[in-house]
Amino acid sequence: MEDLTRKISELSKRRGFFSQTAEAYGGVAGFQTFGPEGAELKRNIENSWRNKFSDSLGHREIEAPTIMPEAVFEASGHLETFDDMIIECPECGTSSRADHIVEDNTGIGEAEGFSTDKIEEIIRENSLKCPNCEEDLSDIPVEDFNLMFKTSIGPGSGQKGYLRPETAQGIFVEFPRFKEYMRNQLPFGITQIGKSYRNEISPRKGLVRVRELTQAELEHFIDPEEDRPPISDVEDIELKLYSREAQNKDKRGEEMTVKEAVEQDVIKSDWIAYYLGLATEWYRSIGVDMERFRFRQHQNDELSHYASDCWDAESQVDGDWIEITGFAYRGCYDLKKHDEYSEEDYTVFKEYDEPIEKKVTEADPDMGFLGPEYGNKAAQIAEKIQEKAKKSPEEFQGETVEAKLENKSFEIPTEKCNFERKTVTKTGEHIIPHVVEPSFGIDRMVYTVLAHAYDEDEVDNEKRTVLRLTEEVAPTEVAVFPLMDKDGLGEKAREIASQLRDEGFSVKYDDTGNIGKRYRRQDEVGTPYCITVDYETLEDDPETVTVRDRDSTEQERVEVSELSEFL
Ligand code: GAP
Repeated sequence: MEDLTRKISELSKRRGFFSQTAEAYGGVAGFQTFGPEGAELKRNIENSWRNKFSDSLGHREIEAPTIMPEAVFEASGHLETFDDMIIECPECGTSSRADHIVEDNTGIGEAEGFSTDKIEEIIRENSLKCPNCEEDLSDIPVEDFNLMFKTSIGPGSGQKGYLRPETAQGIFVEFPRFKEYMRNQLPFGITQIGKSYRNEISPRKGLVRVRELTQAELEHFIDPEEDRPPISDVEDIELKLYSREAQNKDKRGEEMTVKEAVEQDVIKSDWIAYYLGLATEWYRSIGVDMERFRFRQHQNDELSHYASDCWDAESQVDGDWIEITGFAYRGCYDLKKHDEYSEEDYTVFKEYDEPIEKKVTEADPDMGFLGPEYGNKAAQIAEKIQEKAKKSPEEFQGETVEAKLENKSFEIPTEKCNFERKTVTKTGEHIIPHVVEPSFGIDRMVYTVLAHAYDEDEVDNEKRTVLRLTEEVAPTEVAVFPLMDKDGLGEKAREIASQLRDEGFSVKYDDTGNIGKRYRRQDEVGTPYCITVDYETLEDDPETVTVRDRDSTEQERVEVSELSEFL
């Protein structure tokens, strides 16, 4: 279908799914407001995600603030590395993503992982132009631009803070609380659905690249040596994979089951494979068209600073592939960083099945000697000696042991180090858990679901636009109409609508315009069923109504008392 993007955008504005924020004041790029239908669709997708990836897996959901102090992002690495490449046109002043200019004009698929030097070189060699005014950008420098929104916390100059660029840090930073809550038992999963903020250089395509986004993230904390996923639950699910190797050889993607992907080592982590299986089931249930879908593995130079492997779920709209979810193996990166940078303990005590005897080497430096001898350096020297005793016990065989502090070296008499070899009984050890992270972008899910549900056909010789949304996510499950709002038809229809609401259905009541128009309105917002109350309803005993199916447009007479079962 040609120009689906434009059609979705028009339909969304007309029918209350989403539209640009503050259009009355000229609009602001990268911010979208969800209207009544969009907000309900989004909420249904979030609830369906919550059910699939949190509640039914026994994970626990939390809610952290969207603003965090600078120290969190210093530790997480976002301050240093959460950048995109920017190029500013000297003629019209437009700032653009330099890697996008390269991708859009050279046939290079993924330029995000290239260095700024390489991007400058490609722009120069191809004389690439400003997308706004066509000015040649050959000699314009490409720079790193940090995507975090900065703010200050409290009055005056305040404390420096940032709007979170991912919900994940709100989970990692509180890990010491959660491990206590989980009684130190790995594995466990913490989930969160909430807003994140990225000061995107060039927001685009409605919901696809926004500056305020909703993420649904799951951080699964595991012991990498012991914990295995319940892979048999998903082993027969077919995955559509586009591996790094296939991309590099310019081959097409391939289909294989979760089990085959793990056995053939196409997906290195069985945890990632497990989540790709679960996610495939979920995408299908919310209406993602699997003919316009794939899992693409990241190239090495494309990996985020925290990830050792990553697969993206991508959906296709108008021929473009959109990343809708990232499945990253984050290893111990985040917890290790917070352990190093903060005062808290981000390790978990792993108890052995049985206590073990272990040979250890230790030093207990004589502070009575070090203090007078080395003054304010004594404590640091003692620490170095203790470290050395653990890591390089062979150095304690000579007369002295070297302790290096920055540029200065100190020779400490071995006899003052109180070096010892001994056997201790250990009941366990402290480990830093690894993290497996499926991270879903809800705005892009909404967009994909709308685009893949969009259809046009003909009914009664008239062109019809219909959203074939699944019942799982449709904003309204059933619409109830009186044929006309007179002779008691309106009262009966309102009564049926209220009865269905009480039974847990999401119901809209509509009595404006002719029935044909009302059907079209509901088709355009994806309502699977419409019920019409007519004169027969009042005459029949037991009472009946017509139920119209959105997709086939066929109508059936159903007894009112059997409606909920029928639906
Ligand atoms: N915690 C990991 C993380 O944030 P990510 O790949 O940067 O990973 C996860 O983001 C998902 O969030 C993406 O797959 C995408 O669906 C969504 N996302 C990221 N930036 C976005 C943006 N500017 N607009 C809309 N969605 C976005």
